[in-house]
Order: sequence, then C-alpha cells, then structure tokens
Amino acid sequence: MSNTHLRPDRTQNVPVYRQLYQRFREAMKDGRLPPGQRVPSVRSLASELNLSRGTVELAYQLLVSEGYFLPRGPAGTIVSPHLPDSTRSPSAPDTTAKPESKPHLDLPQPFQLGLPALDAFPSKLWARLVNRRLRAQSIAELNYPPPTGHPALKRALVTYLGVSRGIVCRPEQIIITDSYRDSLGLICRTLLKPGDSGWFEEPGYLMARERLLSEGMQLAPVSVDADGLNVEEGCLRANSARFAVVTPTHQSPTGVSMTLARRQALLAWANRENAWIIEDDYDSEYRYHGHPLPALKSLDRDERVLYTGTFSKVLFPGIKLAYLVVPPSQAEIFQNTMQRQGHGCPTLSQSVVTDFIDEGHFARHLKRMRALYKLRREMLRQALEHHLGDRIHIDLQAGGMHLLVRLADDTDDVAVANQAASAGLGGHALSQWTLKPARQSGLLLSFTNVIDAVQADALAARLATLMK
Ligand SMILES: Cc1ncc(COP(=O)(O)O)c(C=O)c1O
Repeated sequence: MSNTHLRPDRTQNVPVYRQLYQRFREAMKDGRLPPGQRVPSVRSLASELNLSRGTVELAYQLLVSEGYFLPRGPAGTIVSPHLPDSTRSPSAPDTTAKPESKPHLDLPQPFQLGLPALDAFPSKLWARLVNRRLRAQSIAELNYPPPTGHPALKRALVTYLGVSRGIVCRPEQIIITDSYRDSLGLICRTLLKPGDSGWFEEPGYLMARERLLSEGMQLAPVSVDADGLNVEEGCLRANSARFAVVTPTHQSPTGVSMTLARRQALLAWANRENAWIIEDDYDSEYRYHGHPLPALKSLDRDERVLYTGTFSKVLFPGIKLAYLVVPPSQAEIFQNTMQRQGHGCPTLSQSVVTDFIDEGHFARHLKRMRALYKLRREMLRQALEHHLGDRIHIDLQAGGMHLLVRLADDTDDVAVANQAASAGLGGHALSQWTLKPARQSGLLLSFTNVIDAVQADALAARLATLMK
C-alpha cells in the first residue's frame, strides 16, 4: 500500500491523528492493509507524511488500544491477525488463520486486572542485572534451588518488610513461593485440612476463592463495608472457623482499608479461637494519598498471622515469585512441608530480584510507579465519567491498581464484562467476585496499562458503546 493514501488533509476540522487513524481503518476495511502486514514505523511515516512523531504515535496508540494494530517490540507493529469483524469488507478474502478462542493471549488487555504497567518496567536495567548474574553463575547455582528460597532474597525481604510494612521477622520465617495461590496451597497443606472452614471477604478475590475451594476448604462469606471485613458478622456467622483470608490494606476488590479497630477485633478473634489469619498484602505499595498503612502482621503479638506478598504487582507477573511470612513458632513445620513437597523457585530470578532490591532499584521503581498509576487512574476515571456520566459511580479509594465502577443494580454486569472480554478490553464483573448471589453490579477495570488520555478516551468510548 502506498503511504500517500494516508496523508491527512490539514484543511479539515478533524485532528490530524484522528484522520490518520481513520485512513488506516479504511485501508484495513477495503483489504489494502491485510491482517498480519507490517505497518511503517512511527518515525518513517512521520517523516514521509511530514507529521510530528507524536501525531503518528497517537494514531497508532489508538489503533493498538482498539485491537487493530499489534505491537511486537523490536519486530515492529503489524495489523492484527484477528481484526474485529466490522473492519473487514464482506468481499475481502479472509486471509486470517483460524481464530484462537482468546485474542492476543500474550498481550496485556487494557483493563486486565492484577497487572502492573508492563510498558513502564525498566527492561534494559533488568537485562543488565540478568546478564551480570549469568556471567558470574557458579556451579552451585546450577543445582536444585533451596526449597524454602534463596537466603539472600530472604535477607533482602526482611529489611524491606521491616522498613516498608512494619513487619519484624527473621529469614527462617520466610518461604519463597511462585505465587500467592501457591502460598495459599502451602498454608492449606501445612496448617489446615480438607473440610476446614474459613471466613472469606464478600466480595473477595476470585482466584483465591477458587484455589481454597480446590484445596477442599469451606468458605463462609463475610461482608465488607467501609471499614473493611465485618468481624462482628464473621463471629456471629462462623465463630469456630479455622482461618480468615483478608486484604486489609486495599480490600480486593472494593479498595477500602480495614480500620484499626477492625484489625484488633480480628486479631482478638483469631487468638481466642486459635484460628489463622491469612493476610494478602498484594498491592500495598500503590497508595496515592498519605502513607502506606503498616501491615496487619505488624500488630500480630500472638503469632496468628500468615503474611503473603507477591512480586507480580511490584515487578511483573512473569517473574513468578511471591513469599509467605509465617510466625516463628510455625517456621519449622513450613520448612518441613517445603523439604517434602517443595521444588523451590528458579535461583537466577531470585538472585536478580535480590540485586534489584539491594541496589535501590526496587525503591526507585515503586516511587515511579506510584506517580504513574496516580496519573493513569485519574485519566481513566475522567474518561469513564465523560463517556458514561451518571450511568456509573466511581468511589476513588486511597490506593489500588483498579477502579471499581459501580453500575445501576439492575445492570447485568456479567454480560457487560463478557462483551468487554470479547472485544479484547479485559476487566471483570463485580458480581462474579461474590459467593452469594450478588446484589451489587459493577465492573473492575485496571488502569495500570492505560497509557495516556487518548487511549483512556478511546477505551471509555468503546465501553460506552458496549453498554448501550
Ligand atoms: C487480591 C490479590 N491477591 C493476590 C494477588 C497475587 O497473585 P499472584 O502472586 O498469584 O500473582 C493478586 C493478583 O492479581 C490479587 O489481585
């Protein structure tokens, strides 16, 4: 295709990036630009059409966000092999391979939950640290990894948890796992038995619920209000439960923080009943107003709290590293489980994460991400309110990685979320995060990978169209 077809008309009232976007859409529709074809680089197209790079970039970002273009890093950008049907003209030959059941399985979807900003991860620095470790790799590092984790990473975590989360612990109390779900499985196999019951936040993290159920646990839903988990309700409903799973810093998914009074009441219950508290502290670093709250674990005088953290939110999920801090009295029994059943996590990743923390990159990265997420959250909030107006209500919480967008209670949030998923947008329905049939309708939309205001606007507009 000759690029002259793309040349925008400067006499028109329509912004130049929009015209460029439109020209690309027309070219895809009439088959001049077939699926899979590489598109010119931003730099070369800008120079050929005598446009600024920023203008071309905006058009490309819009096309990427809507699923028309697929960025492939150094390999350039291509027209998506799975163009939305509306793009293709009826007569255009279908040159696509059989569509996969999920489009772009490997690429982050804009509203996909639980992902940090993958575009903002310092990949070059990471590559440098990996290379340095690889060059210095010893024979011992090629052996099976220690089942409970790399000692240097545990030491780095002891310092980090002390400074950032107010947790005083020793390396022996730390077990490195491959994910939060892995930590849950380990707790079930070490301290609980199938059939044991536990309090589960209502609404609460879907994946944790599924993992606990698959381990044979019984879950008692306990509601969450503006003060966090309703401990009084838990005591009334299931006083003799063996455990409680909580997200005290930013409740998942509502984002509220558990008050000090509720934290103390929960600790008192666990102490009285000899129950375990599983604290899921998955995204505490991402707080945009005030200081991060100390972890519930920092108040644990009676050794009832099992604290879980993960690197999937503060680094990237592909790293597959998380950790569990157990009370001193339980350290040995957990070590025994790991000796028997554990396989350990890759030594190389653990060493690189240790370097990342010890050399100060981690603290700098988190500081940058906090500022970035604050901005991205606001862009998405404004765009959603602009396009959806009084059909939605957003309660901004102090922290977190997603927005809870409340819908009118009679809106079928599952249908909307399914449509958003088919359109490649991602996100979840609030009603799927409850054990009991839901009375509340809403969407959980991550903002961390919404890269700028143009994309936020395009995404909000698409969502509004889907909700019509
Ligand atoms: C509430 C909550 N807890 C924990 C996690 C971390 O899970 P993992 O370590 O399996 O990535 C997530 C990830 O999205 C989450 O949303």
